[in-house]
Parts: sequence; C-alpha cells; structure tokens
Amino acid sequence: MPVERIRNFSIIAHVDHGKSTLADRLLELTGAIARNGGQNQVLDSLQVERERGITVKAQTASIFHRHKGQLYLLNLIDTPGHVDFSNEVSRSLAACDGVVLLVDACHGVQAQTVANYHLAKQRHLAVVPVLNKIDIKHANPDQVCQDMKLLFDIDPDQVLRVSAKLGTGVAQVLERIIEVVPPPQVQRESDFRALIFDSWFDKYRGALNLIYVLNGRLEQNQDIQSLATKKVYPVKSISVLRPAECSVPDLSAGQVGLIACNMRNSKESIVGDTIHLKNQAASAAGSYRPQQPLVFAGVFPADQSKHVALRSAIDKMILNDSAVTVKVDSSPALGQGWRLGFLGLLHMEVFCQRLEQEHGAEPIITAPSVTYRLVLSNPKMIRQQGRDTMDISNAALFPEPNSVKEYFEPLVLGTIITPTEYVGQVIGLCVERRGLQQSSVNIDETRVLMKYVLPLSEIILDFHDRLKSLSSGYASFSYEDHGYHPSHLVRLDIHLNGKPVEELCRIVHASKAVGVARQMVLKLRELIPKQMVQIAIQACVGSKVLARETIKAYRKDVTAKLYGGDVTRRMKLLKQQAEGKKKMRMFANIRVPHETFINVLKR
Ligand code: GTP
Repeated sequence: MPVERIRNFSIIAHVDHGKSTLADRLLELTGAIARNGGQNQVLDSLQVERERGITVKAQTASIFHRHKGQLYLLNLIDTPGHVDFSNEVSRSLAACDGVVLLVDACHGVQAQTVANYHLAKQRHLAVVPVLNKIDIKHANPDQVCQDMKLLFDIDPDQVLRVSAKLGTGVAQVLERIIEVVPPPQVQRESDFRALIFDSWFDKYRGALNLIYVLNGRLEQNQDIQSLATKKVYPVKSISVLRPAECSVPDLSAGQVGLIACNMRNSKESIVGDTIHLKNQAASAAGSYRPQQPLVFAGVFPADQSKHVALRSAIDKMILNDSAVTVKVDSSPALGQGWRLGFLGLLHMEVFCQRLEQEHGAEPIITAPSVTYRLVLSNPKMIRQQGRDTMDISNAALFPEPNSVKEYFEPLVLGTIITPTEYVGQVIGLCVERRGLQQSSVNIDETRVLMKYVLPLSEIILDFHDRLKSLSSGYASFSYEDHGYHPSHLVRLDIHLNGKPVEELCRIVHASKAVGVARQMVLKLRELIPKQMVQIAIQACVGSKVLARETIKAYRKDVTAKLYGGDVTRRMKLLKQQAEGKKKMRMFANIRVPHETFINVLKR
C-alpha cells in the first residue's frame, strides 16, 4: 500500500463518550467484523474491561476502506478514557498522525476531553471533531459545538454529528479521516527503523511487540536490534491486527504490525524503544516517554512459596502495562515482595484484578501512597543516602522528625468541569482537600471550568467518587503533575494491642492527623473480625495516641454445660477463662484480613 493511502489515527474522548462503540461501527462498516453478528465492543477484549465496562488498554485494528475509487489502509487505535490510563493514550498518539475527538452530545466537553485534546495538540496531530449520541432526545449538539468553539477553537461546521449506537453518520467519519489526517511522514527508501508502542505476553511465542514502522521495510527472518539493550533477535513472525491476527510477509514504513522475535520479558521488550536492522546505526524513532507513576503500593505474595510465580505474573503484566514501575521491597510481616508504582488507584485496582484473572495470582496489596520528598538534617542518614534529600513512599521508612529539616509533597493541577448548580459543593470539596483555586471560567450559562492546585495525596483515594456523587455524576475531573511544595507531614502509626502494624501506617498532613486517625480506627473496628482476644486499636503520632477503639472478644459461654449447681463452681470456670484470655492477649496473633489494608483507606 503506498504511503499516501495510509492513515494512522486514534479515537480519544472522555470516559463513556462512546469510543469503543464507534470503533465497533468502523470495523463493521469496513467489513473487519460481521455486522450485528459479533459481541459489542470487540476491541475491549480483557475480562476486566467487560466486567467494569471501561477500556483499560488501547487496542489497534488495521482496516481497509475504499474512498473515491482508491483503497486506503486505516490503522485505528481505540484508547481508554479514564485519567488513570492516560499513559495508554500518550503511547498510542506516538504512532498516529491524527485523532478523532469524540464528544458526547448530551454531556458535552468533559475534563478528560480537554486533557486528551491538549495531548493531541502537543503532538501537532490533525483533529477530526465528532459529536456522538445524537440519537438521544435531550442531546444538545448545537450547545456542545459552541463549547468546542470556545475551548478548542473548532469551527462548528467542521463537527460531524453521529450516533455510534445506530451507525448514523459513521461513514462520514471515515471519509473525513481520509481527507483530514495526513499520510504518515515516513521514508520507505531508507533502512528499517520502528517504534515499539505496545507489547504483551503470549504463552507460546514470548513477548509480542506492536510496532509502528517509520523507515524502510521489515521481512520475516531478518535480524533486528534493540536501540536500548543492543540485543539482536531474529524476526520469527510478522502479522497485522484486523483486529484478529493476520500473518503477512513484511511490513513497510507507515504500517502498524505485530512481530514475534523471541523476546522474553519486559526488560527486553520495552515500550518506547526503537528497533532497527542488526548492526545498523539508528536514532530513536519516537519521542514517547512513559508517564511517571504517582501512587505506590507494596505487593506481596499471600504465601511466600508463591513468590516466584507472583514475580513471573507481575513481569508479564508489566510487559503489557509500561506505566507500572517495580522495585524489590521487603517487610518483616509480609516477607519479600515488590513496591509497584501506578498512575492512580483505579489503575492499581485494575492491575491487581488482571494479576488475579489473567495469571491466577493472589497478592496482598498494602496501603497506596504518593512519593514525599524530605530534606534530611541527620548527618548519618545523609551519608547513607549519599545526598541530603530522600524520596519516600513507604510510610514504614519515614524517619524520626528530628532527622528531617523540611518536608515536601507532590501537587497536581486539576481541571474540573461542573454544572453551575454544583459549583458551591465542588469548591467545598476542593477546600476540604487543601486545594487552591487557580481559575474559574464559564464555558456557557450552565457549566463552569475550574482549575485547582491540589495535593496528590488528597485526590488519589476517593476524590473522584466524592466529586461524582455530590454532582449527581455530572462533574468531571482530570489532573496533571504540578511538582513539589513544602508541607508539614507526620507518620500516623496504627497499633493493634500495642504492637505497630507496619502495613497500616501512613504519612499524613499534620492538620489532618486527628481526623484520619479517628476515621482509621473506626474503619478498622468494622473491618477486623471479632477474635478470641480483645483488640485495642490505637492511632498514634510518635508516642501520642490520637484515637482509640476496642473490638470486644468473643465470650465463649464456658458455663453452658453447668445445669444449676453451685455458684462458686460457675465463678471458678469464669475465672479460669479470664486467666486464659490474659495469656492469649499477650501472645495473640491478631488476624487481619488481606483486603483490610486497602479497604481501611476507603471512606
Ligand atoms: P471508555 O473506553 O471506558 O472510556 O468508554 P467508551 O468511550 O469506549 O464508551 P463505550 O463505547 O463503552 O460507550 C459507553 C456507553 O454509551 C455504552 O453503554 C454505549 O452503548 C453507549 N453509547 C455509545 N454510543 C452511543 C450512541 O451513539 N447513542 C447512545 N444512545 N448510546 C451510545
């Protein structure tokens, strides 16, 4: 296929605006899948995607379409809409020349629409604006077009109006993509060079790499070399996704395809890496860099004998999710494990759910935390660290206050779009979360776009849920990194019967310590089941107890077998029971259910 007749594009939008439904219609229209025959959302193939009804992985399909008598090859990428999976959007855009910006005609432009639009603009991609769900009665396409004009300077006459569900107007989307998105800027005559922009694990073939060819041509059995690792691999198979895998003899510049080449793990198959022919000099093929993780949590095998199996499962998952980072970690209570970095709490939950569903692993996950930065004052620690600052996400390693000169915490710049009637509640929530308003703009008479600088630690857990519930689901939120800011932090320890539980300790802002302490002990009282011994739950900062709750022990009726009889006999049995409990309390091993470590953080 000549380069002039290739188009590479992604569909980008806010959550639930209909990307996967539109992708289905495009696949049907071009004959890639049977009309009405298959299941819905063909490209959302993971179990977790079907269960949660969201896209978590960007998926690719190569389709053919005839336009003005000529056959065109279109490489389509369906991307996720949730902010926690924005890494998938950025890596997809590295292989595209244009985007379909899809907006729900009922809900209008939302926070993630704005964020994704700017991602596309930063990469200078052509934008095909499309309004979806025009079949819905209360859709207001004219108003949404006005908003797009105001926010993105998009001419309302250029906005296509479709119903992805019914298929109305979808054919025009294909036509417009061919007309507006430029062909790839690639060179066929030069030496082969390609960008790896996705990879996953196949039981039989090892790591499979999805590549975007920028220069030259690749054939089966040629030897390729990785720019990052310098290792050489023979190309075992080449295929394209239509969306099912279809074997092809070669791939030329401008094309997207899948190669198997005996790479085994995420250290060899690196998303963002460049591959070229063996022993040929090449420069990096793309400017894609994975996003930095913002939330960190410990992951440990429930049973240490499953350590190797869990390590292999994590490695396979990372191959498919390049935004996750891994470091070895250990804990006195949970043994050897890892500290994993994620882009948000949903990202973490989905990753762990996929570990279970796709690899049968059952890990224990500890409380997620952001990375704080400390300026040290203790010369011994400075020597150990080799510098006077320390980045810390594991609360258990939080140093004594007298070793620290200054604390810093990470901030984000959040964009919130809300209907005007909820502005008061939204501002209340942001203030409660220590947010500082930067700007507030009326998009139209009914909606406001606000920008807030917020501490990351205040939004990772339940900010999004609270925002949704106080605005009846209408407000939306997205955020980007905003650097570090001085803060006043303390370590909140949780003691069970006087013993600190390392997995439950947290780093919190000093002004929030009492509130968080209260909330945690109450929640733990709910979550820890009654046991044979009484359990005292205490939340402390240093030696100061900020909150305390007690879980009463089961009281076994030791006198049940006595029928009537002497009261002294009864007293004797109860006394013996109390003695026994005293002993048990001393040696007690309190059972804390695994999910407690996460659930205790949910309000
Ligand atoms: P994420 O990938 O999770 O961000 O979602 P998405 O943007 O891919 O949205 P999806 O295609 O999953 O659609 C979300 C919901 O909107 C589904 O229930 C669809 O059936 C519905 N939907 C999509 N397009 C239309 C449409 O044109 N009209 C109507 N009435 N409903 C639609």
